[in-house]
Amino acid sequence: MPSGREITAGRPFSRRTELNESEELDMVRPKPAGDVLPVTMRAVVVTRPGGLDVLEIKDVPVPTRGAGWVRIKVQAFGVNESEVLTRKGESDAEVTYPRVPGIECVGVVDEADGASGLQPGQQVATMMGGMGRAYDGAYAEYVSVPAAQVIRFETDLPWEVVGALPEMFQTAYGSLATGLDLQAGQTLLIRGGTSTVGLSAAAIAKELGATVLSTTRSADRAEDLRAVGVDHVLVDTGAVADQVRELAPAGVDAALELVGCSALADTLATVRRHGTVCFTGALAGQWSIPDFSPFMIPSGVRLTSYAGTAADLPEDALARQLEAIAEGRIEVPIAKVYRGLEQVRDAQADVEAGGMPGKHVVVLDD
Ligand SMILES: NC(=O)c1ccc[n+]([C@@H]2O[C@H](COP(=O)([O-])OP(=O)(O)OC[C@H]3O[C@@H](n4cnc5c(N)ncnc54)[C@H](OP(=O)(O)O)[C@@H]3O)[C@@H](O)[C@H]2O)c1
Repeated sequence: MPSGREITAGRPFSRRTELNESEELDMVRPKPAGDVLPVTMRAVVVTRPGGLDVLEIKDVPVPTRGAGWVRIKVQAFGVNESEVLTRKGESDAEVTYPRVPGIECVGVVDEADGASGLQPGQQVATMMGGMGRAYDGAYAEYVSVPAAQVIRFETDLPWEVVGALPEMFQTAYGSLATGLDLQAGQTLLIRGGTSTVGLSAAAIAKELGATVLSTTRSADRAEDLRAVGVDHVLVDTGAVADQVRELAPAGVDAALELVGCSALADTLATVRRHGTVCFTGALAGQWSIPDFSPFMIPSGVRLTSYAGTAADLPEDALARQLEAIAEGRIEVPIAKVYRGLEQVRDAQADVEAGGMPGKHVVVLDD
């Protein structure tokens, strides 16, 4: 339920947040008399690691906004495996409790420094950078994040569509642009193609004008891949290099590794001399190689990685993506849309269960 309606419902939202004078001067939003800023909000809070029951909806203070930070009114957020791990206590030491999870969201600017160039009400996306892990994240009505990880956009697309994008699109775009420097006319292999990052990468690569080969372990997922424009579906039985070489005898120009280190030697064998493999994910769970030897990399093949940030996603790249979606050229892979914080448990259960390709998106009311 939105804050505005909660005010009328008698919840404790009617007190104005106290501000000191210098904070008030630097804010882009003047606060006319009578304008009420909620002091509390609803959020999903994890106070201790555990099962789905530790995802509790609580009334908590609206996050404060330090200098250089932006407070966003959350409209939609994706639910990710990373947040399942946070809830279960299986993330790294960066995560502390109590914590509001949520590594990404879209929404509108509530308040920002004047110097940020952000205006109240402006549509924005944000993702990662410790959000929902080192500090409270997006499973809430408001979130406060550093301005450097806020990306502006303008679209009439529904929040549930835009809400599917931030982490998925940033990772896919960053892997292709920063990691692989993919060019029109090149051939790309996506290892782990039915993942959200894999589906998004395929759509971006097709829009760019590349030929895309994508893998899945299940032949019955071929249609999911073709729906985002994949040219050649490969069934991954643990090795795909021979199949790739049948289609591209000299090897592909670029490969995006999402299955992980257990597949990496085989993925490296799919790439042409002076082609590049970008290691971005480890769906099979292996993130490192014991006793790694550089000689496992074939002569002349380049191995890089991508673990990027919002800074790798230019506003114009997001704008082009939104335009392509609005014009129907790109299909956004959405597994299921959930309404309200009450459905976050269902969303995490579905993410954990797997088997639904695409993004799980929670939409909050206005
Ligand atoms: N580097 C970064 O900045 C960054 C950012 C975000 C995510 N990531 C990583 O990118 C990867 C993809 O993330 P995602 O959220 O897009 O994944 P996702 O949507 O949860 O991926 C689901 C897909 O993974 C495949 N899969 C599951 N277990 C597998 C296994 N044991 N071996 C091979 N494939 C398996 C399944 O495909 P099939 O059943 O069709 O084979 C399934 O469709 C993850 O490893 C994630 O941690 C990295």
